[in-house]
Amino acid sequence: MTRTCAVSRAGPGDAALLAALHARCFAKPWDEIAMARFVAAPGVLCLVGTAPHEVAAPAALLIARAAADEAELLTMGVIPERRRAGLGRALLSHALAVLSSRGATQLFLEVDETNAAAVALYRASGAKPAGRRERYYESGANAAIFSLDLRS
Ligand SMILES: CC(C)(COP(=O)(O)OP(=O)(O)OC[C@H]1O[C@@H](n2cnc3c(N)ncnc32)[C@H](O)[C@@H]1OP(=O)(O)O)[C@@H](O)C(=O)NCCC(=O)NCCS
Repeated sequence: MTRTCAVSRAGPGDAALLAALHARCFAKPWDEIAMARFVAAPGVLCLVGTAPHEVAAPAALLIARAAADEAELLTMGVIPERRRAGLGRALLSHALAVLSSRGATQLFLEVDETNAAAVALYRASGAKPAGRRERYYESGANAAIFSLDLRS
């Protein structure tokens, strides 16, 4: 099956949308004020993704920050009912292209190591293990740090 997900940059008017999407994806949502700051911040990339044939209903977000030649993924999420449709891969792939075009050579991604979906997506996108933080999360779970080389 051909999957064509649309990815676009979030603009100043999209802070509420980003907050709503984040709230659908995470137990501890980031509010509209926080999202407005990300959208306005230099070096921060905010993307929204839409599943095929649903142009009017964004279902995913990604926020990454770049400084000099390094970038970090701050968050990404796909609303539960649109998962496993290629949106996460499409967003990450788009972000890699944009960050690389801006001069970043490496992207760091930090994730709860029990988050099988995110770990699988990062590995499938070429990310390599780059470290671990013991009991980093409130749940007691460890954080796995991945690194993705943007030069290839
Ligand atoms: C992680 C997340 C963003 C993945 O988004 P998605 O749109 O469902 O992922 P995709 O459909 O693009 O999947 C791409 C690949 O990732 C891997 N993958 C994604 N979800 C997976 C799962 N639940 N189990 C195993 N592998 C998975 C697979 O390799 C998949 O390729 P395939 O479908 O061809 O097998 C989504 O599960 C999510 O929003 N989770 C909650 C928020 C979160 O944990 N964010 C990441 C930390 S910030």
